Amino acid sequence: MKRTEIAELINSDCERDRVLIQGWVRTRRDSKGFFFLELNDGSSLKNLQVVVNSDVPGFESLDAISTGGSVSVVGKLVPSEGKGQTWEVQAAEVTLIGVADENFPLQKKRHSMEFLREIAHLRPRTNLFGAVFRVRSRLSFAIHRFFQEHGFFYVNTPIITSSDCEGAGDLFKVTTLDMDAPPRSEDGFLDFSSDFFSQQTYLTVSGQLEGEAFATSLGKIYTFGPTFRAEDSNTSRHASEFWMVEPEIAFCDLQQDMDWAEDFVKWVVKEILDTCEDDLELFFNFVDKGLKERLQFVVERPFHRVSYTEAVELLLATGKKWEYPVEWGANLQSEHERYLTEEHFKSPVTVYDYPKDIKPFYMRVNDDGKTVAAMDVLVPGIGEIVGGSQREERLDILLENMKKHGISEIDYGWYADLRRYGSVPHSGFGLGFERLLMFVTGMANIRDVIPFARTPGNA
Ligand code: 4AD
Ligand code: MG
Repeated sequence: MKRTEIAELINSDCERDRVLIQGWVRTRRDSKGFFFLELNDGSSLKNLQVVVNSDVPGFESLDAISTGGSVSVVGKLVPSEGKGQTWEVQAAEVTLIGVADENFPLQKKRHSMEFLREIAHLRPRTNLFGAVFRVRSRLSFAIHRFFQEHGFFYVNTPIITSSDCEGAGDLFKVTTLDMDAPPRSEDGFLDFSSDFFSQQTYLTVSGQLEGEAFATSLGKIYTFGPTFRAEDSNTSRHASEFWMVEPEIAFCDLQQDMDWAEDFVKWVVKEILDTCEDDLELFFNFVDKGLKERLQFVVERPFHRVSYTEAVELLLATGKKWEYPVEWGANLQSEHERYLTEEHFKSPVTVYDYPKDIKPFYMRVNDDGKTVAAMDVLVPGIGEIVGGSQREERLDILLENMKKHGISEIDYGWYADLRRYGSVPHSGFGLGFERLLMFVTGMANIRDVIPFARTPGNA
């Protein structure tokens, strides 16, 4: 007999004579001559109540069953007389699968997030984390749907790479050299010619550069995969291993790039509102009271757009004392970004045309010579969720920028080739998948939306 999932049974539109359910016990309540089990099989936030009478075959085998244990039940799906549920299962036959002793850490009481992080292998069995990871899966699917339905091709860019896309230097090195006695060249530097790839390699910080090669071939592409950053940022929004979505679009300027980014965020948020009702209800009620309104707002209202220069003026005009001073030419810090989106505009904001000197080599230089066609999408509660730009498609200017950034014309010759042969204006962006998931669920820490988080000092 095939197992029926609880998600299906709780929405059943009729009684069912014989179903097999298998799951983990959330609670057990004993009464005279029978007991109740609240069973959860992970398919849904909701449990299914099972009534086990003492004359049911297997009754004794469940003597030891308590919170956390696993069981198999064959029975009849009948209307429930109890409160809070439409259906329950009247057991006809029960089997013990696995006991959980009283040391099972997830007994029915509130646990701190810190404690739950220490048992990352068990926390998906809680209501909260079950919901987080079901929504994570849905969100991933929604992202693929958006791009596939809008004519984008999915490209898998390499995880091991020799290029440093963002030029920020926060790269994890990949090597098989003997760390105790690495080979050195005559001038004392590490000799990577005898390393596995005969050169220095890293874990990718972004698939963008390779994505550009495919966008300038297939037209519209996206990548969606793990990225790695060795930045020592111990914040609630930074992880050392995170997933990034990076669309790249040929024949596209910054204006259209911002349109894509905004449409994309709206579309996936709406998709989650439409498909994750039960799980979202938990976040609305227990995680973030303002969440529902915020998500609806994002779907319904246009994002604000403001140039970096205007944003700086606006921040200066507040007369506020910032931890990091605001001045034209400096990066916007999280406190500035959050002021813009949470207090000033009270909506998502797209900031564009950033100073050239604080941005990577590949961004297209604007006519003013001082700014580049870059944009960031900022959302309330998080700040930057998307970073993107129009790419420099003019070979001479690109080569000049590479030189300024100390980037080898030989190593990046392939990248320059994309401008040598049929160069076209093109743009793209990167969206931090976990940041979007935080936004959608109201979860406050990135460590709590990744199955097994990797952060500084913690793997
Ligand atoms: O702004 P970033 O660094 O942009 C890029 O990497 C570009 N190559 C993207 C592109 O144009 N194709 O990163 C993009 C997004 C950020 O907006 C943020 O949401 C997320 O990636 N992100 C992180 N998320 C979690 N932990 C970190 N350490 C992150 N660093 C960036
Ligand atoms: Mg960025």
